[in-house]
Amino acid sequence: MTTTVQTPIQNALVIGASRGLGEALVEAYAGRGAHVVATVRDDHPSPLLDFAARHRASVEVERVDITDRAQLAALHHRLSGRVFDLLFVVAGVSLADRDAVGVDIADEDFDRMMRTNVLGVMRTVETLQDLVAPTGTIAVMSSGQGSVADNTRGGFEVYRATKSALNQMFRSYAVRHRDEGRALLLMAPGWVRTDMGGPGAALDINESIPPLVDTVDAQHGVPGLRYLDRHGRAVNW
Ligand SMILES: NC(=O)c1ccc[n+]([C@@H]2O[C@H](COP(=O)([O-])OP(=O)(O)OC[C@H]3O[C@@H](n4cnc5c(N)ncnc54)[C@H](OP(=O)(O)O)[C@@H]3O)[C@@H](O)[C@H]2O)c1
Repeated sequence: MTTTVQTPIQNALVIGASRGLGEALVEAYAGRGAHVVATVRDDHPSPLLDFAARHRASVEVERVDITDRAQLAALHHRLSGRVFDLLFVVAGVSLADRDAVGVDIADEDFDRMMRTNVLGVMRTVETLQDLVAPTGTIAVMSSGQGSVADNTRGGFEVYRATKSALNQMFRSYAVRHRDEGRALLLMAPGWVRTDMGGPGAALDINESIPPLVDTVDAQHGVPGLRYLDRHGRAVNW
């Protein structure tokens, strides 16, 4: 592969990378010269497993379901002693989600979305954060839909709420860790054509992930919390 853009990230850990934006992040960082540990939930065929098989020198595959506390602890144990410049938690779900939460959504779908997008993501950050270099970056895939201030159109009420709650919890994490030197990034990738985004989404993955990686790279080494879109512009909380 021809490497045209370099990254300050030498070692990255990407959680939730079997397909979609997570898998594209792995390709981007490997393409920029980083070594990447990327996680899938299981061994079912996936774009990540295909890519890793073709790039064994730069990509290692690990397994974790972020809603399983024991699996997260086991992953931490397997990776202990490693140091990552970047932890990027990408995993998330968007289930059957109509406009009116109290009317349309099944209780179990509500629970799974909150448990994955909020508790699972934050528990992943809390469990794995000590593997990140003191001046490294912890990034979480949020969404522009997590913005309370920008919610003028409604829709996707539960998904939005999960990302707002994630933003709030990551902000609390940032308060607790305010004296540390890490960059803490909530990233909004835009509406992207993945399994989650659907075929009608505005952006191709190649219009989202390269600028998003440029932004994460530019923020690396700058301590503190930011909520940013893929171009590095601040998103309203
Ligand atoms: N696409 C968009 O327009 C868009 C916009 C804003 C934000 N986002 C966010 O970006 C992230 C990635 O979205 P995407 O579009 O790439 O979605 P996707 O194509 O549906 O991929 C979701 C990824 O999350 C993984 N995942 C789900 N639940 C998990 C769990 N419990 N443990 C570990 N991994 C889990 C999936 O693994 P499996 O293959 O095992 O299911 C898959 O790798 C999500 O957080 C999403 O909310 C997406």
